[in-house]
Amino acid sequence: MYHTKSPPLEALSGSNPSESNLTHSVFEAVQRIFPEVKEQELARLKDEYETLRLELDRRYKKAGLLTFDGDPRLLALEDSSSFLVYLIVRIQMPNVLLETGVANGHSSFFLLNAILKNGQGYLTSTDTSQSVGSLLTDEEKSSWMLKVIDPTRTRESFIEVVESLPSIDFFIHDSDHSYLWSKFEYETVLKKMSPGSIMASDDVNYSYSFIDFTKKIVAKPIILVDKRKAFGVIHLK
Ligand SMILES: C[S@@+](CC[C@H](N)C(=O)[O-])C[C@H]1O[C@@H](n2cnc3c(N)ncnc32)[C@H](O)[C@@H]1O
Repeated sequence: MYHTKSPPLEALSGSNPSESNLTHSVFEAVQRIFPEVKEQELARLKDEYETLRLELDRRYKKAGLLTFDGDPRLLALEDSSSFLVYLIVRIQMPNVLLETGVANGHSSFFLLNAILKNGQGYLTSTDTSQSVGSLLTDEEKSSWMLKVIDPTRTRESFIEVVESLPSIDFFIHDSDHSYLWSKFEYETVLKKMSPGSIMASDDVNYSYSFIDFTKKIVAKPIILVDKRKAFGVIHLK
């Protein structure tokens, strides 16, 4: 059995009150993951991120994606979570990256630009729709493969994608946030994660799935509390 409600932030903070999993600071989150990273390096990467953020904003506007019907960015990774993802990929320099849930391509944009700056790495993304990633340029797509999940056999289809990859260095979940689907993704990719790799997930406050997963594998996550949602990271040893 599992909780059907969303967890409160206290449930995400962990059992040790003097060493909470939660932070509101991107720099604190990244320094907990990579204690060796220097502040000067973070400041330089922040400048890179700001330039990319402006470019993405320009593309949202050009594509007419900001409509009176609602801001499509409500679906996307929030700003601090996007910055954290960008920093992790720039510092970790992963070769094999897997993302689930593309939509307009907001998170893919930061992943692919980090790959381009790193000069190494390849991103595979899954979605149930073929018509995703409209914010991405051809240059960004040169390091990208979209795999469409068959809606009639979603689990088998996802397992096939994971099995087609070599060991995964960086994984991010941002697809179907239901307890059972996100649990299934975390558990499926775990078998394929490389030593020292990173598992990340948006919307970890949506269900108990991420917390239960970290307890099961006895991992201490870092939870970045963003404006509306919480973003979780596990550094696998
Ligand atoms: C929250 S949006 C992704 C937002 C995106 N990461 C961003 O930052 O803009 C969720 C996406 O997951 C896709 N999706 C839903 N169920 C899925 C599944 N089982 N596997 C892969 N993608 C799925 C939806 O089509 C949608 O594009």
